[in-house]
Amino acid sequence: MDMNNSVTLLTGATGGIGRAVAMELHLTGESILMVGRNESSLQNLQHELSELKADSSGKLDYLVADITDDADRDAILRYVQKHSAPVTRLINNAGVNVFGMFEDQSADTVQEIMDTNALAPIQLTRTLLPYLLEQAPAEIINIGSTFGSIGYPGFSSYSASKFALRGFTEALAREYDSSTLRIRYFAPRATRTELNSSHVEQMNSELNVHMDSPSQVARELMAFIHSQKHSASMGWPEKGFARLNQLFPRLVGHFIRKDLEVIRQYAKASLTA
Ligand SMILES: NC(=O)c1ccc[n+]([C@@H]2O[C@H](COP(=O)([O-])OP(=O)(O)OC[C@H]3O[C@@H](n4cnc5c(N)ncnc54)[C@H](OP(=O)(O)O)[C@@H]3O)[C@@H](O)[C@H]2O)c1
Repeated sequence: MDMNNSVTLLTGATGGIGRAVAMELHLTGESILMVGRNESSLQNLQHELSELKADSSGKLDYLVADITDDADRDAILRYVQKHSAPVTRLINNAGVNVFGMFEDQSADTVQEIMDTNALAPIQLTRTLLPYLLEQAPAEIINIGSTFGSIGYPGFSSYSASKFALRGFTEALAREYDSSTLRIRYFAPRATRTELNSSHVEQMNSELNVHMDSPSQVARELMAFIHSQKHSASMGWPEKGFARLNQLFPRLVGHFIRKDLEVIRQYAKASLTA
């Protein structure tokens, strides 16, 4: 795919990973349509990126939209249809999490996590699918997580949402296997962004879980974009555990059980903070 002639629609552009991805895309001269709910954050990001590389050939546009809202997803489609250049890549990156034991999660929290991380990207894909099929070639990249392959305590709803997104990606990719539309899945591991409360950071430090920087994730995502891979996940030992979990889930469960009390302590503290 010729990166310089394509527009990437990036949801969650103003977040930690989204911002770093927008920066990498902009530096390669690609045009970006940045989507988020907060207009001033989008404006600031647009300004920051244009200062970063004033001579970039890539255009920077933004659209204020809540991807969980039906009318806003329709507005995204209308905007894309009227856009001067074709959108040939959708990166479903927006996501939320609330760290906590499942027994402490409210019905609204569970709903928000499933709506934002699973249903919204699925519905946005459905809305944009006919348009993307017309672009030939085009691609959809769904941003998953290590927890889309390993169910982890304290992240039950989040794991459920990312397992759903991974299953959706796999099935849809197979449905469109012989078409010009590619559907792919990229899974970061723990990353230092606002998605994670300070309690998650402290817990990861105590459990020796490595956290990447958003720019590391963005660089790996760029390499993935240029590759022919159907899916990729970041970092060892996470990649190994994800594979092991498919074959021997009880073994992985045994390792996790050793950390359960620590996870529970941080999860309880996170929700009462
Ligand atoms: N950080 C990690 O440890 C980690 C690890 C693996 C995977 N991931 C995945 O990476 C992706 C990006 O996460 P991040 O760490 O960059 O999170 P983040 O810093 O919290 O950013 C999340 C982004 O999503 C946007 N967003 C949330 N709800 C939205 C909605 N309803 N409509 C439109 N935009 C919405 C937010 O923008 P507004 O609030 O301004 O709308 C923000 O730009 C997520 O899918 C996450 O699950 C993260």
